[in-house]
Formats: sequence, structure tokens, C-alpha cells
Amino acid sequence: MDQRLLQIKNLSVSFHQHKNKITAVSDVSLHIEKRQTVALIGESGSGKSITSLSVLRLLPSLGKIENGSITFNGINLLHQSEKEMRKIRGNEISMIFQDAIASLNPSMKVGEQITEGLKYHKLIPKADLKTEALQLLQQVGFSNPSHTYNQYPSQLSGGMKQRILIAMAISCKPQLIIADEPTTSLDVTIQRQVLNLIDKYKTDSNASVLLITHDFGVVAEYADWVYVMLGGHIVESADVYTLFKNPLHPYTKALIGSIPNPELGQERLKSIQDYTFEDTGYDGRRFAPEKYTYESKSFDEPSSLVEVEPLHYVRFFDESKVSLIG
Ligand SMILES: Nc1ncnc2c1ncn2[C@@H]1O[C@H](COP(=O)(O)OP(=O)(O)OP(=O)(O)O)[C@@H](O)[C@H]1O
Ligand SMILES: [Mg+2]
Repeated sequence: MDQRLLQIKNLSVSFHQHKNKITAVSDVSLHIEKRQTVALIGESGSGKSITSLSVLRLLPSLGKIENGSITFNGINLLHQSEKEMRKIRGNEISMIFQDAIASLNPSMKVGEQITEGLKYHKLIPKADLKTEALQLLQQVGFSNPSHTYNQYPSQLSGGMKQRILIAMAISCKPQLIIADEPTTSLDVTIQRQVLNLIDKYKTDSNASVLLITHDFGVVAEYADWVYVMLGGHIVESADVYTLFKNPLHPYTKALIGSIPNPELGQERLKSIQDYTFEDTGYDGRRFAPEKYTYESKSFDEPSSLVEVEPLHYVRFFDESKVSLIG
């Protein structure tokens, strides 16, 4: 049985402004298996949100998918009509958007907002919608659902609003949740509660999660598989254990180096600013770790990922273009 729920192949996305073309996502391939949590991690502007918005075909207006395929349950989403996509969004694939808290309707009770997706996608008698919403509120940890149902977003804390968004995202029982930095603005304890809720839904419903983050601590705790993004490219990918044990790309090393590790007794944590990554355009960002040799590979090929050990992929990087400061 095919375990692949989502498969992105050779995705390239550009923005066209006047006569300028900016390539935001370049030849990205990734896949998510059933019941898997896959993390997409990378610096700001590396293309994480644009990759995930492409899946739902919700790119900003100037953005264009130039190339690639996005297959969900065997269907190429790029060939679906807008009507078909509306059936998929929120129903089979839910997205918690990066700025989602701001998108809650301030003048509508949160309970009613939770029922919007159900009303659209499921044939549920009107009388039962409220019952469903109350159950969902309970599921995401509200101890007095009837009270919360009647509240407005402004009456809730950031963490509570985030839980409302999760209730909305899981209301139609999607097979895939895309969570784009769902916890950036929350404190650490609340972050964990929110991520635990997504994780619990995944386990209880045999669903999959695409978790977008810039926090390797979060990746270590929740992800099975990791894709590291830099400058629109995937630069490294492996299962989470392998990536932590043997990070090869300088950027991955930098990300892992910035996680506190009491055992190492580091005097000062490295921050990503301690590293510079010179943008050398499409053919740049190549990397050949010293201990591996790639005699058969030409450095002039626009490199795809190379499998350096079983199921551990790295994009070639020209080390002369990467320098470590300090
Ligand atoms: N609305 C837009 N108009 C023009 N270019 C855009 C737009 N949105 C994104 N881009 C381009 O796409 C690139 C990738 O953006 P994206 O939002 O995917 O980054 P990200 O990895 O999600 O960053 P962050 O961590 O800050 O959310 C940006 O660097 C920018 O060049
Ligand atoms: Mg983003």
C-alpha cells in the first residue's frame, strides 16, 4: 500500500513584479507519509510558507507555480479546478496559517467560527452543529465549552485563540494538517500545549502533519522527518535522529548549534547570525562534506540532493562561499 499522502516534486515558485522575477521556491521535492510529522525548517524568507501555500494553491496574487507537481492521495492538486480545491481545503487538508490569529473574525462568537468548516463541508443538521463545536472545544482543552462558545476572540488569550484555530483545523477531520509556525508568538509552556494538541489529533486520527518552524527544539520533539530549507532550496533532509546525529550542511549545523545543550557546557550559544551564507544564485549553495567524495558528480550541475548515507540527503554546497564567524 502506498504510504505517501503528499508528494511535492520539483516545485518552483516565482513572483513577477514589473519585469522582475524573484524565485522564491526552487526545485523543491518533499513527501509526507501517512501518520508522519514532517518538519520544514529554515530561515526567514527561505520559502517555507510559499511551499505550503502552493499545496493549497493559495499563493499571493503575484506568485506563480512555474514547475512541478503536488500529489495528494494520488491526485495532482495542480490539475484540480478551483471548485475541487475548495472541497479539499479545510476538509482533507487543513492549514493553520502563519498569521492566523489575526484572521479570526472579531465580531463573531468563536463557537460559531468553529462551525464554519463543518457547515461548508459536511452535511450536518443545523441543530447538531453546536454540539459538534462544543465537543471540539472540549477536545482542544476548554473546560467550560458552553462558556467559550459564546466568547469573542478579543476575550481570549493568544494561546486560547491558537486552540480555537486548532479546533477549526481539525473540525472536518483532515488527513493532513499544515501548521505554519503555529506557536511563534506564544510562551514556551503554551507552545507545548498547542503542539501537543496537534500531535494528539495526528495520533488519534491517523493523520499527518507538516510542521513549519524555525525552532530545532520543536523539530526534535515532534517531527519524524526533517527538511531544511535555505534560499528557496531544500539543502538537507533525513529522519530526525540522523539529522541530529550527523548534520552535514553548514546551515543545518548552524541551526543545531543554536539549540542549548547543557551537556556541552557551551559558554555562549552560537546564533544563526554567527554564520554567513553568501547567496550565489541557483547554481550556488553547493556543499561537499570533506569526508564524502563525489567523484562522479560535477560541481557545475545544478545539484539536486545527494544521498550521502542511506536516507540522508544533502545539497552540494561550495564551502568557499560559506564562512563561519567566531
Ligand atoms: N507577497 C509576496 N510578494 C513577493 N515576493 C514574495 C511574497 N511572499 C513571499 N515572497 C518571496 O518568497 C520568499 C519566500 O517567502 P516565504 O514567505 O515562503 O518565507 P518563509 O520561509 O515562510 O519565511 P518566514 O520564516 O519569515 O515566515 C521571500 O523571500 C520573498 O522573496
Ligand atoms: Mg513563513
